[in-house]
Amino acid sequence: MFMTSYRVLVVGMGKRGLNHALMFKANPRFEVVGVSSRQQSRLDAALAKLGKVPADIDASKLATSLKPDVFCFCTPPSVRVPLIELGIRSGARLIAFEKPIATSSAEAMQIRKLLRDSGVKAVVSHQHRYGEHYRKVQEIISSGKLGRVHTVYGTFVGWMMHMLSHAIDYMSWYNGSADASWAMAQAAGRGKLNDVHPSPEYIAGFIQYANGVRGIVECGAGAPDQPEVDAWWRKNRIGAQGTDGFAEVLTGSGWRAVTKTGSWSGPGSMNYDLDMPPYIQEIADWLDDERRVHPCAFEFAYQGFEIMMALCRSAAEGGQIALPLTSGADELKSLREKLHDKKVLLGSQVSVKEYA
Ligand SMILES: NC(=O)c1ccc[n+]([C@@H]2O[C@H](COP(=O)([O-])OP(=O)(O)OC[C@H]3O[C@@H](n4cnc5c(N)ncnc54)[C@H](O)[C@@H]3O)[C@@H](O)[C@H]2O)c1
Repeated sequence: MFMTSYRVLVVGMGKRGLNHALMFKANPRFEVVGVSSRQQSRLDAALAKLGKVPADIDASKLATSLKPDVFCFCTPPSVRVPLIELGIRSGARLIAFEKPIATSSAEAMQIRKLLRDSGVKAVVSHQHRYGEHYRKVQEIISSGKLGRVHTVYGTFVGWMMHMLSHAIDYMSWYNGSADASWAMAQAAGRGKLNDVHPSPEYIAGFIQYANGVRGIVECGAGAPDQPEVDAWWRKNRIGAQGTDGFAEVLTGSGWRAVTKTGSWSGPGSMNYDLDMPPYIQEIADWLDDERRVHPCAFEFAYQGFEIMMALCRSAAEGGQIALPLTSGADELKSLREKLHDKKVLLGSQVSVKEYA
């Protein structure tokens, strides 16, 4: 059967943008018709890997002239709304962009409205879930081997705007994508509030899911080491506990499970070369067929981001925060105003360098 290929424009030629462009190029369902980067040197370096592709430092000019089917952008967290607007203006049917979806709930709500009003689909790159070890844990949970799942959890050493949306996305997935009804958290450490990924250095809290399952999550300086994992950014553990056992994944070192019938473990490590191809393929699947909604669709990422912002609100204001959020706010501004200036305490000496 003849299958059309979707025309893609990729904006931002940093680490993630170039990787997206190469992954789209490798999939026959896509044709990379243009790339853009504000720096000519980055553009040149990208073209050396991508071959002959129309390129311009002016993303707006390229988007308007190319009219792509897919508008992809991979920029720092502070650069979201203008590129969502450009993607919509370009006439694209789908916008693919990077986590975190925004830096405040107010901005996330603005993006949601822009996408809903325009009817443009969007996906957000929470692609770890394609790892064989992440999928194995999901398979064990959904097989019922853990009995009644009562708890999902995630612990990540990297700071919030880098890692917390990943943590929540996979926890919610392991909990059958249930809605959340409230969240509560504490935060510590001002050292990363002005980072490119602005964050408290440590945030830890609870999530009440509507199906009664408890979520427990922590992210940053106070999180424990996962000694089985070598690479620092991959010292993350996400899993589920039930009445009959547990199953969990280590981002950088496989999976393990203990149930009534025994204990098992297996390999796997986060790997763009393995995780991105199915993420990209499912973009084509969703464009082909409305019913094949992408597992990384914006609506799921939005729900996770809401939880993340509720945790921040709780850390700034105290108490429990009801979900879904009913109005937007600037949670990082509140944290900048309210977070005490005591030095953050570490969960492990492996994090000394990043939180010096
Ligand atoms: N999903 C993942 O596994 C994963 C991994 C790493 C990073 N990320 C996310 O990807 C995003 C990008 O990270 P990166 O590592 O590629 O960063 P990077 O610094 O390598 O690249 C960012 C690019 O954005 C461009 N840019 C900056 N401001 C811009 C603007 N106003 N308009 C157009 N382009 C602009 C820069 O020139 C650069 O090319 C971040 O949100 C980050 O959190 C995701």
